[in-house]
Amino acid sequence: MSATFNDEEIHQIERLIRISKEKPLLPENFVPWSAPEEPHHTFLPEHLVSLHGMPIYDTLSDEQKRELARLEVVQSMYAYCWSEGLFCIFMNRYIQDRKPDDLERRFLIREIIEECRHMDMFASAIEKLGRKPILMNRLQRLFGNWTARFLPYDFLFVSCIAIEIMADRYGEHLRHADGSYPVLQKVAQLHNIEEARHILFTRAVLKKYTQKAGPLRATWYSLIILTNICFFQNAYVHSEIYRKVGIQNPKKVRQEAFSHYQKKFAADCLDTLKDFIESFNGFNVITKPLWRKVMKLDI
Ligand SMILES: [Fe+2]
Ligand SMILES: [Fe+2]
Repeated sequence: MSATFNDEEIHQIERLIRISKEKPLLPENFVPWSAPEEPHHTFLPEHLVSLHGMPIYDTLSDEQKRELARLEVVQSMYAYCWSEGLFCIFMNRYIQDRKPDDLERRFLIREIIEECRHMDMFASAIEKLGRKPILMNRLQRLFGNWTARFLPYDFLFVSCIAIEIMADRYGEHLRHADGSYPVLQKVAQLHNIEEARHILFTRAVLKKYTQKAGPLRATWYSLIILTNICFFQNAYVHSEIYRKVGIQNPKKVRQEAFSHYQKKFAADCLDTLKDFIESFNGFNVITKPLWRKVMKLDI
């Protein structure tokens, strides 16, 4: 697969490469790593905390709520970090045999550099928050590695854009939250800025595929996006986190929390993704019921 770009897209991708080279955002300088954590700092806007809005949330002490937000933001950064590692495997596979001056190769080299910096930045932020994430299980690792190595390129770009758009919306909430811990606020800001450039590129690459996608291909793309989001949500809402916070019957709470969280997530973080899916007619008789049932999306 090789994308064909029009003059305007070539001009835009060249501009994105230039920005990446001339104005790099280095986490080492951009993030105020030495900023102390103050008691009034928040880690997640409350509406993104999985249990917020459920009766059980009101029974938690302030310390438990704070710990829950801390653990969930650690978990989400770990999940992004892990999926970015997979993107790098895929992008390296995609550019491996291209000429040095190939436009896509030149952009993706910049993206790989930025993703490596993001992974390092997320790992430092996790360390700063002083908690260990719950690692992906064997099945999740097998699934992730298999897809990055063997799935067709257009399917993988669709997966990339799904996570990028979702991360972008999630990061926007984090970035603009009042009283956010400055380290997290700047981490979110940096990620937001650079992912916006990646999304522009991925949209241009995918245009060729999404524009002429027939009903079958549109269905596949839609299902791939749905699987990716569901995968991510499963990695993020965790009974082990509830146990650590001191919640009774964590597994039972998780069952209820998951669909509750999905409803909030669909309303808060999936609006741009919904537009993207609509752009290639990805909501049809097969996928619409699934998006409604599995993802609680209001369509
Ligand atoms: Fe990233
Ligand atoms: Fe990215």
